[in-house]
Amino acid sequence: MQLLDGKLLSENIKSELAAEVDQMVAKGAKRPHLAAVLVGENAASQVYVQSKIRSCEQVGFKSTLIRQEADITEAELLKIVDQLNQDPDVDGFIVQLPLPKHIDEERITLAIDHRKDVDGFHPINFGRMAQGLPAFLPATPYGILEILRRYNIETAGKHCVVVGRSNIVGTPMSILLSRKGYPGDCTVTLTHSRTKDLPGEVRRADIIVAAIGIPQFIKGDWVKDGAVVIDVGINRIEDASRKSGTRLVGDVDFEAVAPKCSHITPVPGGVGLMTVAALMMNTLKACKKEIYQ
Ligand code: GUN
Repeated sequence: MQLLDGKLLSENIKSELAAEVDQMVAKGAKRPHLAAVLVGENAASQVYVQSKIRSCEQVGFKSTLIRQEADITEAELLKIVDQLNQDPDVDGFIVQLPLPKHIDEERITLAIDHRKDVDGFHPINFGRMAQGLPAFLPATPYGILEILRRYNIETAGKHCVVVGRSNIVGTPMSILLSRKGYPGDCTVTLTHSRTKDLPGEVRRADIIVAAIGIPQFIKGDWVKDGAVVIDVGINRIEDASRKSGTRLVGDVDFEAVAPKCSHITPVPGGVGLMTVAALMMNTLKACKKEIYQ
């Protein structure tokens, strides 16, 4: 069993980006600029956004963090989105999800200029991705493609089972892995809470992408010998043996699954760090106008 080291890969990607930014800036180009909007006090969101801002520093991007109270109105948030859309210095921006219940996430996502949508959540980017056109790819699936690519994992003709059909991970992942080319050309099964015999479906997989948001959901006897396992989950569970009283686990029962598979991503240190690296790649593309002129 080989660990798919998201920490190492994300550091490699960030070094590559930093070198490119140095070169661009030395030639007089503008420094890439990512803005992040964080609403409320969600603890996980605060950690994720801090990690994005810290990564900007590491790669030499300018970053702006816009923090707002949880009681901000939808209209006020839309105004911030519009200002970021209009700001010529901002290449790309994200609005960290989830948002408070009184704000319609779909309305916010639709308001973001698709040319600055470095999360790849706007339907224009989603539709272009589905058609194989140049698009900002959603950061988590993009990070997973980079893991497969950088570890030279064969995908053509493989049976991939994606567990979870969210708009930001499961559904785009199923589309990307079924697209033509590498990493792709998989035969994909997209499973969800209404799937009959989920263990049976997962057992058929050469590649498993677990993105269901339930701690240690995928069990050892659901996994075929030699499967590649990509664990998207980041769940905090109680653990009395730790000083903090908690620890992070994925959507896969790592202890039981790891001995059976050929490759597996750890949690932490796997997909999460690659999501941030992918966001940095998208921000550079936005600055270079690689996707949209
Ligand atoms: N919440 C969980 N994942 C993400 C992400 O990739 N982007 C944003 N904006 N919010 C998230």
